[in-house]
Amino acid sequence: MIYLDNAATSFPKPEPVYQALDRFARTSLANPGRAGHRMAMAAERTLDECRHSLNQFFRGEAVERWIFTHNCTDGLNLAIKGTVKAGDHVITSDLEHNSVSRPLRKLEKDGVITLTRLASNQGYLDPEDVRAALTPKTSLVALTHASNVLGTVQPIEAIARIVREAGALFLVDAAQSAGVVPIDLKATPIDMLAFPGHKALYGPTGTGALYVGPRAKPEAWREGGTGGDSSSETQPAQLPYFLEGGTPNVLGVAGLAAGIAWVAERGVDVGRKHEVDLLQKVVDWAEAAEGWTVAGRWEPETHVGALSLVVPEGISPQEIGGILDGSFDIAVRPGLHCSPYIHRALGTFPDGTLRLSPGPFTQEAEIDTFLNALAEITAGVL
Ligand SMILES: Cc1ncc(COP(=O)(O)O)c(C=O)c1O
Repeated sequence: MIYLDNAATSFPKPEPVYQALDRFARTSLANPGRAGHRMAMAAERTLDECRHSLNQFFRGEAVERWIFTHNCTDGLNLAIKGTVKAGDHVITSDLEHNSVSRPLRKLEKDGVITLTRLASNQGYLDPEDVRAALTPKTSLVALTHASNVLGTVQPIEAIARIVREAGALFLVDAAQSAGVVPIDLKATPIDMLAFPGHKALYGPTGTGALYVGPRAKPEAWREGGTGGDSSSETQPAQLPYFLEGGTPNVLGVAGLAAGIAWVAERGVDVGRKHEVDLLQKVVDWAEAAEGWTVAGRWEPETHVGALSLVVPEGISPQEIGGILDGSFDIAVRPGLHCSPYIHRALGTFPDGTLRLSPGPFTQEAEIDTFLNALAEITAGVL
């Protein structure tokens, strides 16, 4: 199969990730910290080492500020529901994935918060729009770093400074950027950073992390065993345990650690550039092909490896996706990509677009095969 759905989850993983998963599962798959025996200690060490890697990779304040989550949604929900209070104002955008939009919309519908949803322009947010939307009641600004529909990278450094000046918390959804766009938490005042481990950090599904900076104090929303301090009647206040009740996905973290090491060695921008170079070919093709358009503004320097194509009239993205899968053995993602607001803004609601997202192992020849398949599928329609 030609797999062009890396924005959903990356496949295949780099070889060291498979090796780390196999090794860990066979030798160290105990419950971390719970028992004090050697296998439990080895599992605990795996968590600690991965927290160190994350802290080094993203230049965080401290190792214990990295909370392991089940995916990006888990971290975003913890960050949003754990910090907003009744009467707060929150700013978000029309680029967001449902993992940001839905919790915020629910809080708004329940009358807990007021919400401003900023409009993007061709896939990009203007930091000055964030400044204009801030009010004395704004407690949180929650924005995606890179759109999962359009691949456009947002100016989060400028936005972070504006939000910090206003005293609100800044939550960044780095689902599409972590591993392919540099994020420096020492240089950029981000209070909470959520991302999955299973996309461009190349860990397995079931992994993710939330960075909790010193100004953010999310409530624990899952209380339970932490492996230590069992005598305490309530959740131990110490990070990361305060926010990590229950047995962690330590096998997944072993794979994630290998994925981070692979990315760090290869270089963050190398990955982004490889994918954007492949997408440039698709953009050139779409510009010349009848009936096809690229959604959003194409700027290779501020783009990750996801691109949405508006398909020709007379055929839906779902039909094309089905034919690509069934007849050409090519995996893409048609539809709304869990991000309905941007499709409404683009005029592509409800059918959406055809999104392709190459990965580090995608070859140019595979993109050629994909483009030939598109031409063949739509030849009868145009
Ligand atoms: C921008 C964005 N945010 C959040 C998510 C949710 O990630 P997860 O599926 O790991 O919960 C995704 C997943 O595609 C995404 O693209």
